[in-house]
Amino acid sequence: MTIDARVEELLSRMTPAEKAGQLTQYFYFRLPPGAPGPVLDIDPDEQPRMVESQLAQSAVGSLLFVTDPAETNRLQRLAVEGNRLGIPALFGFDVIHGLRTVFPVPIAMAASWDPETIEAGQVVAAREARAVGVHWSFAPMVDVARDPRWGRIVEGAGEDPFLGAVVAAAQVRGFQGPELGTPERIIAGPKHFAGYGYAIGGRDYDEVNISDSELWNVVLPPFVAAIEAGAGNVMTAYMDFNGIPATGNRWLFADVLRGTLGFEGFVVSDANAVRNLLTHGFAADLTDAGARAVNAGVDLEMAISAPAYAHLPEALESGATDIEAIDACVRRVLEAKIRMGLFDDPYVDEDRARAVLADPAHRDVARVAAERSAVLLRNEGGLLPLDADALGSVAVIGPLADSPRDTIGPWVFDFDLDETVTVLAGIRARAGGSDQSGHDASAPHSVRSGRPAPDHAVRVEYARGVPVVQREFPSLFDMFGGNTPSDPEGFDEEAEFRRAVDLAAGADVAVVVVGEWQNMIGEMASRSSLELPGRQLELLQAVVATGTPVVLLVMNGRPLDLRWAAENVPAILDIWYPGTQGGAAVANLLFGDVSPGGKLPFTWPRTVGQVPMTYAHTISHEPENQARRYWDEASTPLFPFGHGLSYGRFAYTELTVDEPSTTTDGTVTVSVEVTNTGDREADEVVQLYLHQRHGTASRPVRELKGFRRVTLSAGESRTVSFPVGPDERRYWNAAVRDWVTDTSTFDVWVGGDSTAELGATFDITT
Ligand code: NOJ
Repeated sequence: MTIDARVEELLSRMTPAEKAGQLTQYFYFRLPPGAPGPVLDIDPDEQPRMVESQLAQSAVGSLLFVTDPAETNRLQRLAVEGNRLGIPALFGFDVIHGLRTVFPVPIAMAASWDPETIEAGQVVAAREARAVGVHWSFAPMVDVARDPRWGRIVEGAGEDPFLGAVVAAAQVRGFQGPELGTPERIIAGPKHFAGYGYAIGGRDYDEVNISDSELWNVVLPPFVAAIEAGAGNVMTAYMDFNGIPATGNRWLFADVLRGTLGFEGFVVSDANAVRNLLTHGFAADLTDAGARAVNAGVDLEMAISAPAYAHLPEALESGATDIEAIDACVRRVLEAKIRMGLFDDPYVDEDRARAVLADPAHRDVARVAAERSAVLLRNEGGLLPLDADALGSVAVIGPLADSPRDTIGPWVFDFDLDETVTVLAGIRARAGGSDQSGHDASAPHSVRSGRPAPDHAVRVEYARGVPVVQREFPSLFDMFGGNTPSDPEGFDEEAEFRRAVDLAAGADVAVVVVGEWQNMIGEMASRSSLELPGRQLELLQAVVATGTPVVLLVMNGRPLDLRWAAENVPAILDIWYPGTQGGAAVANLLFGDVSPGGKLPFTWPRTVGQVPMTYAHTISHEPENQARRYWDEASTPLFPFGHGLSYGRFAYTELTVDEPSTTTDGTVTVSVEVTNTGDREADEVVQLYLHQRHGTASRPVRELKGFRRVTLSAGESRTVSFPVGPDERRYWNAAVRDWVTDTSTFDVWVGGDSTAELGATFDITT
């Protein structure tokens, strides 16, 4: 029987209530012992019992947040056996940057500018998720983010639609494989459709107003790429989109997503977003909310509390929706279940799940990803790499340097802190000799540096220096436990500060780790400031004042105010929240086993007052004073988009365009010679930027239109070529409400960041 025939056969036997059940996904979780009360309006003891009974009565067809294989099997049995038609449940989860093996946070993975690394990470994440019974990830988050106050910038690929599109497609390929139902893979769900990253003030869930041009040219391209890569699902967004709640916005889903973008998979609401149609002042009651979401084409309601879709039978009776709309949703959900093979094999093998989660090969992929995502922001005098053989002692300083929970970052739940390698543990294992490995007293059982420890042991000593900065508000995720631990009992702040400075003064080099605690960033965790929290800057300044050379490691998911450091600290390496193997990767980078090669996926502002800020802005009055738009601060970034150094040195020469001109449907090839003039192998991300000089709209001063990460040995040269065709030049023109490819003169630059100066021009004629 074909899939369509199977779907129709099931559909013909379902009652309206059973259909509503198939369109309902419920939040199911058991809180860890001792977890603080949830911030969500639910009873944690009652919720599991209630969901189980609904599952057994076919009132729920999907669950989220179950990751224990024994639990998924137990719940699946309830669904399959309780269901008159034997329809299995679909299990979804936020597999954002790994399940047990935690990868660097998504913004870090994007900073690798390496689709292969990104894809490989999500292959591992999918394998682990599928093994425990998860069929679908609520990822990738492909929201373009240009305001770093917004906490969810950490979950995306940054500010650029071109980079965002490449990263989105790589993630979808990694999660799903070539098609839905590929063994050991899961459904990918790009989110949040659309424009969720544009919350005013960077305040999560606040309204979004996006111009037509911004929507088509900036916000949608990553979704287009994810859909072209085959994504099986798309998630709605929480906020009002140009005055209409995104989740009830028929134009967004029917016209844009399914019509123009040709999406054929199923749409899920964000959690409680259908109920929220009441909160918005849009729907009159839950029946109205359910009807309007279904009419908009939202197939599955993700519910934390009582679902609106339970009222669909009433909405059907009152004529608020019709059976065609409901059936269309049910078809798409059933098709996904069939394609994923759930009817054939709904259960998982618990022994196999344990073996997959423990697979050491997964940790290696995570370590390499962390190595490839780090961004070397500054390296004055070539302080990095450190020479382990020439060093007597290293002082490792800062509370984030030895915090396993912060090392893996936000949006993870199934981690194993004991095997998480902190920066301190990584440095000890790499340079300190075998007796010094481990964070604090407990040795991690898996520092997989991939390289033998040196014969010569460096003395590695540690001081926290300043206290942990506690969050003043309850975090959305506090209820799951495992958050940043507090300071040890009897922590004497002043004594510890002095101890850290003394340690630095007596060491050959100080490695200071600063940044944000992982619960300061993510969902519902925006910040009104980009300053280093707490006394970290003061500590850094005191350490630098000792005269000991300082390497600054930044643990973050958004740009921070590093104005002082950028002038006073010789070496700055952005390590992000680097994941399970983060410390091992950082040690390999510090000691030069690998060269950093990541690049910034966002413009790094000097101060919060400058945001939002993007390199791809347009230009208008008084361009010569562009850098002086503020009275009190330069209006240039601290570090430009695409910036990142390495242990090599790259020269760009011989930029050529193969044709001086071509027609609007023609393609020119831009080539450049890149040479590593340094004395060791290193990676460079070769970037191409384009600018249209005149046309039927004004276009940004430059836009990324091509990039390639290359590895060059010392002295090696390579010619790198990029096509610049109609796809690279076309844009959505708001005046004609259509895509255009103008005739014009184009500037093209190729280099190592968005300020690249080596340029050429070509013409496009009719
Ligand atoms: C709300 C978030 O906005 C969404 O991204 C996530 O997938 C769901 N919660 C489920 O956790």
